[in-house]
Amino acid sequence: MNIKSICCLGAGYVGGPTMAMIAAKCPHIQVTVADFNVQRIAAWNSDSLPVYEPGLDEVVRSARGRNLHFSTDIKAAIASADLIFVSVGTPTKSYGIGAGRAADLRYIESAARLIAEVSQGHKIIVEKSTIPVKTATAIKSILAANSRADATFDVLSNPEFLAEGTAVEDLSAPDRILIGGETTPGGADAVEALVSVYANWVPRERIITTNLWSSELSKLVANAFLAQRISSINSISALCEATGADVDEVSRAIGTDSRIGPKFLKASVGFGGSCFQKDILNLVYLCESFGLPEVAAYWIKVIELNDWQKSRFVEKIVRTLYNTVTGKRIAILGFAFKKDTNDTRESASIAVCRDLLRERAQIAVYDPRVDADSIRQDLVEAGVDPELINTHLQICDSPYTACQGAHALAALTEWEEFRNLDLIRLYDGMLKPAFVFDGRAILPTAALKAHGFEVFVIGKGV
Ligand code: NAD
Ligand code: UGA
Repeated sequence: MNIKSICCLGAGYVGGPTMAMIAAKCPHIQVTVADFNVQRIAAWNSDSLPVYEPGLDEVVRSARGRNLHFSTDIKAAIASADLIFVSVGTPTKSYGIGAGRAADLRYIESAARLIAEVSQGHKIIVEKSTIPVKTATAIKSILAANSRADATFDVLSNPEFLAEGTAVEDLSAPDRILIGGETTPGGADAVEALVSVYANWVPRERIITTNLWSSELSKLVANAFLAQRISSINSISALCEATGADVDEVSRAIGTDSRIGPKFLKASVGFGGSCFQKDILNLVYLCESFGLPEVAAYWIKVIELNDWQKSRFVEKIVRTLYNTVTGKRIAILGFAFKKDTNDTRESASIAVCRDLLRERAQIAVYDPRVDADSIRQDLVEAGVDPELINTHLQICDSPYTACQGAHALAALTEWEEFRNLDLIRLYDGMLKPAFVFDGRAILPTAALKAHGFEVFVIGKGV
């Protein structure tokens, strides 16, 4: 099957950038990203994209209007496509059976029903969203039960491995592309059709094909392994603080072992992002559902350790500030879950700010990319009393304003600009002793100390 027209349901952090890259690399294929979120689509069609990613503006500009389109006319986009990516959200279910663990598949199901309603002829449906193993069975069953007589479908799994902040790099030179399909002749043809799309820019040896279930499961496992490394090094960060070891030195020492490798060994105040926690919870739920409680108990520890890492950071602040932060101004540098993104989903900053607000601290937040409304909304959703947010939260437009009159500053996102702050200006503006809590080990510790700051760095013993 020669793919001439692609549609993607979902214009989010994955759908938008991924389709922009496909369109840029495959000028002979028409690509339409469809979403019912009118503001999001309008933003994708404007100069101010809804997703901040270095290099993304250029990629979108190179193809938009030529063979890249963003539309709210979902039905028309489905009708004209040979191949349909489903890239809708799969958040953790918050109610009913599996609440707090299982993936909420309502958007996947409604996308499948819409595809069934509109489609004619043959179409390839590609699971781009991260989903539980065996979801392809549910999609196939919905399609079979609701489609027109002349419609036929192949369902593939093609999980996305991009990380936010490096999405353009990850999409243009991926470590691998994973495609799972049915082991039937029709399934093999569908896999080959999708392989040929990626082969326009990805070397064939980097395109891995597997059966459907291996592909679906590999996505959850990849995220679980990455998160596990962070929890592992974060657990060691506590031991370093207790013993006088330095976690960065330990990471370097173990990371040079080629069997361990250097990546994802940076201790932090805790991992965030929309997927690590949700995907591990999903994995845990699957293990429980398949009667494997020991496996579930193993993986849930990764999340428990991450929660503990965030709460022990707050405890460290409160204890250091003479056991009370009530009424004290604390500057929070960074609200995004990592640098180079405006995404705040599950950011460690949310938990830290929530707990400090509950201690009645006055919080002054600065982040170069996150807007004030998102910060307020995140804290409301995290259960902070809106009255407390009104009276105890200030959003600042510079780190210096945030630190003015503050007892302490806490660095929670590793934005590059935090490496080169004017320390004299900061110190002069703060109350004394001026405390620094570096949750990312990115600030210049020696220089801070030389300027008179009292410094605590995650994973660094005294
Ligand atoms: P997102 O919430 O940013 O975007 C999802 C979009 O889907 C929303 O704009 C929503 O309006 C739209 N949508 C829902 N139902 C729809 C329908 N029937 N038709 C058209 N649009 C519909 O989500 P995201 O971050 O892009 O993640 C999407 C999926 O990709 C998730 O399963 C996630 O786990 C996975 N993933 C995300 C990342 C990441 O970095 N964010 C990376 C890899 C995989
Ligand atoms: C992660 C994976 O890296 C992607 O491969 C995957 O596609 C994606 O999840 C997804 O499925 O959504 P992302 O969450 O965007 O990507 O960003 P990461 O770079 O993985 O960082 C996640 C969190 O871990 C961030 O809060 C980051 O600061 C933290 N982190 C990362 C550390 O604390 N230490 C590290 O060494 C690395």
